[in-house]
Amino acid sequence: MEDFLKRALRTKFVGKRVVHYCAVTSTMEVARRLAQQGAPEGTIVIADEQTMGRGRLGRTWLSPKGSLALSIIFCPPLKLLPQLIMITSLAAVNSIRQFCGLKPMIKWPNDILIGEKKVCGILIDSEVEGDLVNFAIAGIGMNVNLAPASFPEISNLATSLSQEVGKEVSLPELTIALLTEIEQLYIKAQTGVSIHEEWRDSLETLGKWVRVKVGGVIDEGKAESVGEDGSLLLRHRDGSLTRITSGDVTVLKD
Ligand code: BTN
Repeated sequence: MEDFLKRALRTKFVGKRVVHYCAVTSTMEVARRLAQQGAPEGTIVIADEQTMGRGRLGRTWLSPKGSLALSIIFCPPLKLLPQLIMITSLAAVNSIRQFCGLKPMIKWPNDILIGEKKVCGILIDSEVEGDLVNFAIAGIGMNVNLAPASFPEISNLATSLSQEVGKEVSLPELTIALLTEIEQLYIKAQTGVSIHEEWRDSLETLGKWVRVKVGGVIDEGKAESVGEDGSLLLRHRDGSLTRITSGDVTVLKD
């Protein structure tokens, strides 16, 4: 994988340095250590398998062999930090579309679904001091070549690319497509071109009645729109509007 990426990647900075593990606890932890030691922007940490993969909201993330587990180090200006979620989730959607011909959608804020099943999750960690982002790490976990039915923890909720297309998918080539797309969108956002609309158009959540769990608090309403910062605007039945910056969304059946 490492050699293939070095040979085939045509990016300017994403993946110029690749740190590859056959197995590691979590690529997020390794990337954080490297970032603290001053690793250059675009450094990626990739693992064939994670033994303690980390998901959003303190959950664990299952990443056995056959899945993609990748973290990328960024040093964005503060105003670009909220866009990292949009950049990575949109890049995941675009690369799955291009490479597999599937039609994934994003469940706010950053779950990638095919139909109603999750195929990819994204986690953003950052270290910010005042107005300065020391580093941000985008972690991407994708079910590529695995049979969710073999994993009871996720069998009802998850799908994989191989399951959807009915054959194995080339993990190295998909990784190239994903990294290329991430870099292109990141550069676009850096030059001031907003990717907000493109991200919004890939959200399956908008216009639906949803239940949002934020910490222990549950809120319900219609997912009306998303702000430039990625927040969700929830319209309640009484007409009031709430802005939600993080949480877990369940789409309610009408
Ligand atoms: C989620 O949907 O909860 C986010 C999952 C993010 C998983 C990826 S896999 C690569 C990186 N390393 C981790 O431990 N987590 C992220």
